[in-house]
Amino acid sequence: MLDRRRFLFSTAAAAAFAGLPLSSSELQAQVDDHQPLPPKDLYDRDQEAYWSELRKQFVIPADEVYLNNGTVGSSPRPVLRAIMEAYRVTEQMAQDDPEDYPIWGYGAWNEFRDPLAAFVGATRDEIALVRNATEANNYIANGLEMQAGDEVLMSDQEHPGGEQPWLLRAKRYGVVVKKYQIPLPPKSPADILNRVSDAITPRTRIIFASHITTVTGVVQPVKEIAALARSKGILSAFDGAHVIGMMPLNLHDIGCDMYTCSPHKWLQAPKGSGFLYVRTDIQEKLWNTIATEGWQEPELKAERFQRIGSSNVPILAGLRASIALAQSIGIDRIERRHRQLADRMLAEMTKRGAESWTSPDPTLRCAIVTVNVPPLKRMEMETWMWKQKKIRIRGGEPSKLRLSTPYYLLPTDMDRFLASFDEFKRQNRA
Ligand SMILES: Cc1ncc(COP(=O)(O)O)c(C=O)c1O
Repeated sequence: MLDRRRFLFSTAAAAAFAGLPLSSSELQAQVDDHQPLPPKDLYDRDQEAYWSELRKQFVIPADEVYLNNGTVGSSPRPVLRAIMEAYRVTEQMAQDDPEDYPIWGYGAWNEFRDPLAAFVGATRDEIALVRNATEANNYIANGLEMQAGDEVLMSDQEHPGGEQPWLLRAKRYGVVVKKYQIPLPPKSPADILNRVSDAITPRTRIIFASHITTVTGVVQPVKEIAALARSKGILSAFDGAHVIGMMPLNLHDIGCDMYTCSPHKWLQAPKGSGFLYVRTDIQEKLWNTIATEGWQEPELKAERFQRIGSSNVPILAGLRASIALAQSIGIDRIERRHRQLADRMLAEMTKRGAESWTSPDPTLRCAIVTVNVPPLKRMEMETWMWKQKKIRIRGGEPSKLRLSTPYYLLPTDMDRFLASFDEFKRQNRA
């Protein structure tokens, strides 16, 4: 019988490579293969060589082009090693303190919260380690006191993991979901801010919006939205699933009340390592959704929200390693690289006649380019790109393409995608 890990790895790989599964031992060998990180001064000497060296930290095969980092990132070798090492250590059941392992589901996990809090401009006591943005968004939607008829205001580009918790609450308890529209594309921050402002009513209790939207990758002016909300006595909460690792993030500077994240995307952290930020002053306003020992202890601060029973602590070791990697590269460099790649992708796609749904204002975009390419059918293109060219793209019906440009994407990878796009277009015109 296949062991579970082998089964998971081999079925995923088999689906991807039609008969070329990567066995667990092959994957293990790749992870163990200690590719050194590029030397720091290589960046100053030759930036392309630096990024090209860094690409070797990723186990995505060299002949695959991955333009779907916006859905999930790919954890590089240092992160995978940290997870596996943590499993190796913890599963020995040899912790010093006899209470250590059993209480891990209820631990403070400060060794993981501290580096994360420092990385996102918050304090340990404002961070709860949860599984992902969806879970954190549910904690917000379920946890606030609201009456039937009270309103939550959100954009028309929310991910189901942000929108659906509120729709459930609306159906069950009568809160009202109101939406403001984000233009395709927004021309300026004011273009969004005015719409938020116009949609506020005396019943608005909370503005819940994506910092970077899943639909088009627009970077919303969250600092201004948070200030607007506060000036009117309304709570603000942002779904930042895409933000951590794509660009610098400073939660105190944004000034919002709550924030959620999925670091498995742009920080390349393990799947299942998310967080919920709750500003100290409003923690008492948020009820627990999951309750176990500690839910009635306000002195636990945000730790109260991460107590969900036994948890996957090695994943947190992976999260910590992904923060360390981003810091060793430099988050400013990462953001710059993201922007350079995305700007080139946008320019190349518009040159090819694509309609841009990505803002012309650089402050409203970063590493996700969204274009509309009618009459081409995105699903046909997605399948063709993967089956014929080993290129992963993602889109939306009928003709939207959402192209992610993570820092490990090489210019030659982008060239391959662009040439393939041209080929697909030619074939589908014929
Ligand atoms: C804005 C936004 N929120 C939430 C999610 C859901 O992320 P997760 O599945 O990690 O909870 C996504 C995923 O694409 C997203 O783009």
